[in-house]
Amino acid sequence: MKTIATIKEMNDWAKSHLLLGDSIGLVPTMGYLHEGHLSLVNKARHENDLVVTSIFVNPTQFGRNEDLSVYPRDPLGDSAKLEAAGVDVLFMPEADKLYGAGYETFVELERLPLPLCGKSRPGHFRGVATIVLKLFNIVQPQRAYFGNKDYQQLQVIKKMVRDLNVNTGIIGCPIVRETDGLAMSSRNSYLSTTERKQAICLYGALMVARRLFASGESDSKVYIQAMRDKVMAEPEAVVDYISLVDRETLENITIVSGDALAVLAVKIGKTRLIDNMLLAESASKNQ
Ligand code: PAJ
Repeated sequence: MKTIATIKEMNDWAKSHLLLGDSIGLVPTMGYLHEGHLSLVNKARHENDLVVTSIFVNPTQFGRNEDLSVYPRDPLGDSAKLEAAGVDVLFMPEADKLYGAGYETFVELERLPLPLCGKSRPGHFRGVATIVLKLFNIVQPQRAYFGNKDYQQLQVIKKMVRDLNVNTGIIGCPIVRETDGLAMSSRNSYLSTTERKQAICLYGALMVARRLFASGESDSKVYIQAMRDKVMAEPEAVVDYISLVDRETLENITIVSGDALAVLAVKIGKTRLIDNMLLAESASKNQ
């Protein structure tokens, strides 16, 4: 595996391989890699001639009071995992190279970033869309891989690519979970032992929603109340949002159908966790 730190070298490498007719799959990450990230890498490896994984803790997607300065990092461990997973290039650019002095251009969607995570993280998706488009321009991938875990992020990127005629296929990948159901996340490392036990309530709430769907319930209010009750049973849990939304538009739904996505964000102590599940799909298949 080659490790590249400069934009020019990354771009030259990509162009030389595109000339040879190789397809490039890109997996953008912020590092501190776990099995969720590696599942994207595996899919990319099966579908492309070459795989590039980027590790970049993108400052523009963090709010003022968020965890940029303490975001977990493990470059050596990450590098070993990617090498073992058969990645061709690890791209690790420096922040001041991607956002030099006088940087002023951002990608902003008008509607999709407004609900859910966008409400409590204003500017977050602007930072995400911007860095992802920058990475696409540098790496020129045929395909790029994103997890359903960050469902709103995935929808934002799909929409950006459609709206701006970007020639990269966006591939959404299933959520990888711990054995007790907690969605894997780099931020899980912030949880104390007690908080880790309580964090299972996000998955628990999604299971409550699943059971209601299986029983034929169609009133979204019933789902939201039952999910809230499940989360609030944990002493450290504070709900940011719990919603049932349309899987494409992310708009709230009142009558629940097979297309409904249950989504939630919950703070466990200081750590904000998110999760989601399509009500109609089997647990092992998509989530
Ligand atoms: P990061 O949180 O490191 O996640 C990188 C990718 O891994 C994202 O597409 C995310 O959805 C996916 N992922 C994380 N946990 C997962 C899980 N348990 N199962 C499946 N996929 C999972 O998301 C970002 O970084 C950044 O916003 C980024 C897109 C890199 C832009 O900076």
